[in-house]
Amino acid sequence: MTCEAGIHEVRARLSSARAVTVLTGAGISADSGVPTFRGTDGLWRNFRAEELATPEAFARDPRLVWEWYNWRREIIAAKLPNPAHAALVEMERRFDRFWLITQNVDGLHRLAGSTKLSEIHGNIWKVSCTACGRVDTNHDVPIPILPQCATCEGLLRPHIVWFGESLDSEELGRSFDAVNSCEVLLIVGTSGIVYPAASFAPSAKAAGAFVAEINLDPTPNSELVDVSIQGNAKDIVPLLL
Ligand code: OAD
Repeated sequence: MTCEAGIHEVRARLSSARAVTVLTGAGISADSGVPTFRGTDGLWRNFRAEELATPEAFARDPRLVWEWYNWRREIIAAKLPNPAHAALVEMERRFDRFWLITQNVDGLHRLAGSTKLSEIHGNIWKVSCTACGRVDTNHDVPIPILPQCATCEGLLRPHIVWFGESLDSEELGRSFDAVNSCEVLLIVGTSGIVYPAASFAPSAKAAGAFVAEINLDPTPNSELVDVSIQGNAKDIVPLLL
């Protein structure tokens, strides 16, 4: 199917749909200039994200992990939402039942104006205390290392779900409900290899939804979805409305 035919088909499905769910990943923010995780521009001092975004890495060297997050905060602080983020805000207005699930921690969906969303991997602009669990919003760039909790002086960590950690059960439940009850699932800019988000496409298909993927490259989901559109999120997503 050509890119144009794919766009046409998704537009037709959306025009009659009432319940729409969208899953986004780093690719939607790539068009705003935020490096993806698995692209070469995602590397920092030759570390891969998987080597730093773990509780073990933080326990071993919290300073190193905070330096990495300060690098990422600095990059993200200068970025703005792009037309793909804006189109998803418009979708939220248009459909009776809409839910946006993002794996991104950059906060760009919120900045664009999305409100019906689950940030299932957390948010880089929040910190949580490793001792008392207090969660705060924090926009410091850079964060003074090592940051301490205002209540108990415990060590603060980024409020992000790291590899090997569990996702918030409430957000996860809400996300699975949205995936399993939608008529259309759009999957935008994710490599589709990190669980549980990787299971959303097969779950939605099994529940009878029409599933479309928008990505620069083919992914493990491409064979399974109804329509796979290759292109930049910022160019394609606005055309779906
Ligand atoms: P990845 O970096 O794994 O994948 C980004 C995807 O976006 C790739 O499939 C690219 O082909 C695609 N892409 C890049 N630029 C694009 C563009 N302009 N338009 C459309 N697609 C584009 O990022 P995620 O799939 O989001 O987890 O990664 C999932 C999780 O793994 C992340 O949330 C993070 C990471 O480790 C945690 O931090 C817990």
